[in-house]
Amino acid sequence: MPLKLTVNNVVTTVDVPPDTPLLWVLRDVLNFKGTKYGCGMGVCGACTVLLGGQAVRSCMTHVSAAAGEPITTIEGLSPDGLHPVQVAWEAVDVPQCGYCQAGQIMSAAALLQHTPHPTDAEIDTAMSGNLCRCGTYPRIRQAIHEAAAAGAPARAK
Ligand code: FES
Ligand code: FES
Repeated sequence: MPLKLTVNNVVTTVDVPPDTPLLWVLRDVLNFKGTKYGCGMGVCGACTVLLGGQAVRSCMTHVSAAAGEPITTIEGLSPDGLHPVQVAWEAVDVPQCGYCQAGQIMSAAALLQHTPHPTDAEIDTAMSGNLCRCGTYPRIRQAIHEAAAAGAPARAK
């Protein structure tokens, strides 16, 4: 059944079973490869995207549940890669292998939409579902503080 999706501000129609994970549609149908597959069970956060401004695990979200809400992937977080979270990530040199980082950035952007100046505890709570095997957590926390200081937008585009 065709489903209408709005991904990164572009309306598109996909013809997939309604229970297809959003992650597969983003990666394999729409070719947004920045969103990563990690566990497929909702526990690692590598597949995090924004759905209606909320961070969701796209591996656990049926595509039918995403129709009607704006979907933002790492490719659409900003038109030029200069979202304050992305700028801070680069300034702090957060990534190591990089695999988890798109999900980390999307969760951080969602956090700052709702909590513009989070404490360490609020960061740790908000980011606890995003695992990093390289242990970049201290730099993630630092970068979120820097993005907050720079003024992350209230609503990621
Ligand atoms: S791949 Fe979705 S939470 Fe791990
Ligand atoms: S940077 Fe390697 S898993 Fe996070």
